[in-house]
Amino acid sequence: MKINIKIVNIVGARPQFIKVKPIIDEFKKQKIRDILVHTGQHYNYEMSKIFFDELSIPKPDYNLEVGSATHGKQTGLMLERIEEILLKEKPNLVIVYGDTNSTLAGALAATKLHIPVAHIEAGLRSFDMKMPEEINRRLTDHISDYLFVTEPSGIRNLLNEGILKKKIYLVGNIMIDTIIKSRLKIQTSKILGKMHLKKNMYVFLTLHRPENVDKKEKILEAIDFLQKIQKKIKIIWPVHPRVEEQIKKYKFQRAIKKLENVLLIKPLGYLETINLIKNSKFVITDSGGIQEETTFLKIPCLTFRENTERPITVEIGTNTICKTEKILLKEVNKIVKGSYKKGQIPKLWDGKTAERIVKILLDNIC
Ligand code: UD1
Repeated sequence: MKINIKIVNIVGARPQFIKVKPIIDEFKKQKIRDILVHTGQHYNYEMSKIFFDELSIPKPDYNLEVGSATHGKQTGLMLERIEEILLKEKPNLVIVYGDTNSTLAGALAATKLHIPVAHIEAGLRSFDMKMPEEINRRLTDHISDYLFVTEPSGIRNLLNEGILKKKIYLVGNIMIDTIIKSRLKIQTSKILGKMHLKKNMYVFLTLHRPENVDKKEKILEAIDFLQKIQKKIKIIWPVHPRVEEQIKKYKFQRAIKKLENVLLIKPLGYLETINLIKNSKFVITDSGGIQEETTFLKIPCLTFRENTERPITVEIGTNTICKTEKILLKEVNKIVKGSYKKGQIPKLWDGKTAERIVKILLDNIC
């Protein structure tokens, strides 16, 4: 029997495509009508469409094509265009994911129209209001009706901010649902052979946070540690468009070219990324999602940041926050010597998060 409710999913950036997939599958199973809105925040093939193709996510019902702009302009354009759709579609609920400008715009447009909002990946806090993601997280949480949390710190943060306990649900991590469901496809990826790589014989690197790549001195610090690490092991670096721009802006092309054992490649799709992470010796990153994926895959992860909004990955997982090059190099030595910590998988990171979320939503809405 088809349940007579309509739900709008709002996505726009890479990690959100990964997070929406298990929810769409679960809605399909439960015969719930859902509408997919892509804001167009990410638009290049390798930043967007490849995820839809690889994960068999249906074509969005609406693509708002907002593209890149300053924060205010991008969020404003999204707000205007999402509102139009919500007025037309009149859904019973809007779901937003993570911490991007698309998340905030979706939640704000819906709540202003008195449409209930569910926030998946609520409660995470870096306590650093200079990060655009922290602003998006805090504002989104305070206007959401259902707060779906990945780890216990999320519950504490939300309660400390005065959010009602009855709105908060610890459901686990939706990204892990996608890894588990895509296991076979990930295994069959040919990326290792294509790149002439061997298991455990390379490092996987990603950098894209403005607090790292928009600052000249931080990029220089990264070039310096790469220079040292590449002497011991090959480094694979899929370069995010933001980083490409910054490298050109600061004229670092020559310094990077000198890193002979660092292979710069275009951004990769989901299946190749996870396959490369899974087979790597360790990962260096500033991404949020990769801190979680490495914890689940039990691969050492050195996070080149001042903090993390995902403390469980450090407390019980394989993640270490490396505020400086010195700390990072010390951890690399531990990994090479085999004395780096071993991790555990957090509770409820079990592939059943979408099932839990949809059950809670149906129990409350129907
Ligand atoms: C965004 C999110 C970040 C998330 C990340 C995942 C915000 C504030 N940031 O960061 O939380 O972790 O996505 O990847 O929402 N660009 C392209 N092609 C694209 C997309 C972007 O060339 O398809 C370039 C543009 O020059 C753009 C820059 O990359 O200005 C940054 O893109 P943007 O979406 O603003 O932020 P991200 O750094 O990707």
